[in-house]
Amino acid sequence: MKILLENALVLKDAFSQPKRAKVLIENGKISKLDDFVEEVVDERYDLSGKLIIPGLINAHTHAAMTLMRGIAEDMYLHDWLFKRIFPIEDRLNPEDVYYGTMLSQMEMARKGIVGYVDMYFHCDAVARAALDFGMKALVTRGLTDVNGLEAGKLKLQQNIDYFQRWHGKEGLILVGFGPHAPYSCSTAYIDHIAKTAYELGATVTIHLYESKQENYSLKELLKTKLSECKVIFAHCVHINKQDMKLLSSENFFVAHNPTSNLKLANGIAPIQRMLKENIRVCLGTDGAASNNTLDIWHEMRLATLLQKKDNPINMKVEEALAMATINGAKASGLTTGTIEIGGDADLVVLDIEKPWYLPQQYLKSHLVHSVNSLDVFATMVKGRWVYFDNNFPTIKESQIRSKFEGVIKKLIDTKN
Ligand code: NI
Repeated sequence: MKILLENALVLKDAFSQPKRAKVLIENGKISKLDDFVEEVVDERYDLSGKLIIPGLINAHTHAAMTLMRGIAEDMYLHDWLFKRIFPIEDRLNPEDVYYGTMLSQMEMARKGIVGYVDMYFHCDAVARAALDFGMKALVTRGLTDVNGLEAGKLKLQQNIDYFQRWHGKEGLILVGFGPHAPYSCSTAYIDHIAKTAYELGATVTIHLYESKQENYSLKELLKTKLSECKVIFAHCVHINKQDMKLLSSENFFVAHNPTSNLKLANGIAPIQRMLKENIRVCLGTDGAASNNTLDIWHEMRLATLLQKKDNPINMKVEEALAMATINGAKASGLTTGTIEIGGDADLVVLDIEKPWYLPQQYLKSHLVHSVNSLDVFATMVKGRWVYFDNNFPTIKESQIRSKFEGVIKKLIDTKN
């Protein structure tokens, strides 16, 4: 299968400049780039007036939480989680999670996201939804041992089973491990999870220092096997200088979720200081119940503006674009985060024939500061369009919507 994209501008990575180039895709991978002659192809797209960029990565989310979008507003993290979210999550079955995840993927694909890092439960349903949609996902089971270490170990066994069933499936799915947070996992449990992840070569993701009430020691945590794992630490809002130094490792990434952090009154993560410590930062939306949109463009701009509040030289356009693309790609292991020969064809096509993309000499600035996520014209994952010009070619949109609404009706009807 050969697909040719022509007449578009192409931004190959966050640090280069857009230029006119053709892109040839063969069997899901980019096989030719720039200027070449290719007469016989299966599909040919004239993308005049469009810009192609690497696909965006959502490095921290709980995809199925679209089911709870708008359900718990104006609350602090603790009450939001324990009084509103957990009681609903207790009632979710695998089919509910499947349709919540599907709706989430529709939104993400519509906004140029090609892959996401998920932490949830009923992970067979999450992986199945990603596979059915054709989107990339690093699937992790949220793990806690608040009901005792043995109960925690049962959840860990589920995570291991998910790994065995899904890891590497069709080049779309990776499975990692998701200890929820140091306040909901004992150190012994985290060590146990980390040893398992390390043996399997799997990535770990964990919430860290999300709210200022969280009281534990990262130094103690890193005395466990976690220190040797590849880890995505989500949030890191309330992190001190010493702890920041501990995160400056090539195995570690911080997933910054600026909207969710503000909405739950958790504050602003010190991203500029992290960058100075050479910490690798990527971007996440968190779940739709605390954001409420799954829009990495929005996170890019907000992240940039929050860091600029004290000094305009903080967070340059390239840094923001790198966080949304290559850093998220490296953290998740899902893709290259670049447009390059040999890489998976995971890309976004933007319609730049809009007033807010002029003057075109400064397109990269526009991608952070004046973009509208709905300008995404198409999103391709591994050489397959998952969103194209107001359509989702891999699914039946009306069916997903009505199933999703059925789940919502059930959840609300049984609320009391
Ligand atoms: Ni989260």
